[in-house]
Amino acid sequence: MKKIAILLSGRGSNFISIHNSIKSGNISGAEISLVLSNKADALGLTHARAEGLHAVFADYSKFKDRVKYDMYVAAQIKDSGADLICLAGYMRIVSKEFVEIFKDRLINIHPSILPSFPGLDAQQQAFDYGVKYSGCTVHFVDEKVDHGAIILQSLVAINDDDTVDDISARILKEEHLVYSKAVKLFVEDKIRIIGRKVVVQK
Ligand code: GRF
Repeated sequence: MKKIAILLSGRGSNFISIHNSIKSGNISGAEISLVLSNKADALGLTHARAEGLHAVFADYSKFKDRVKYDMYVAAQIKDSGADLICLAGYMRIVSKEFVEIFKDRLINIHPSILPSFPGLDAQQQAFDYGVKYSGCTVHFVDEKVDHGAIILQSLVAINDDDTVDDISARILKEEHLVYSKAVKLFVEDKIRIIGRKVVVQK
């Protein structure tokens, strides 16, 4: 049984989607061993508690030092026995020390086709730029923001009359599919990292 830790800060729809994929058997041989949030009022944390999952609020104000905080979070992850750590709307930049501990098993979802539009408000960035396609990317996390090796990407078309909300909703739908797909591949040990490239075994 592979164990998964989820780090989030808000709504938690990607976490819920991964959890539903596990519950439905679409992802088998895996369980969520920890849901951790840096925000006490994150909806994702409330949902995790309601589902009887191990849910932790990690309060940054008790640390005020990025690396010490990250080491506390790392200890929670280690205690949970997690094999895979999924950032799912976790609105903190993780330290290089944290990345090092979980090298090659720390993944993130970003709502754009990287390397376009890294950072905050990726959907707004895509809208403002006027691209005809955007989408989402699941990638390994390295020491640079939204930069690590890409596992899966999924495109969505942008129509002339779309609002940012339309684009965000279309991308989010795709995020839910592609994040579960990437987690399933990891759990089934079908992912190989070769330099910057990720090879997915058929
Ligand atoms: C998603 O758009 C994800 O790509 C980004 O943060 C958002 C989190 O949404 N990293 P949710 O909390 O999973 O609903």
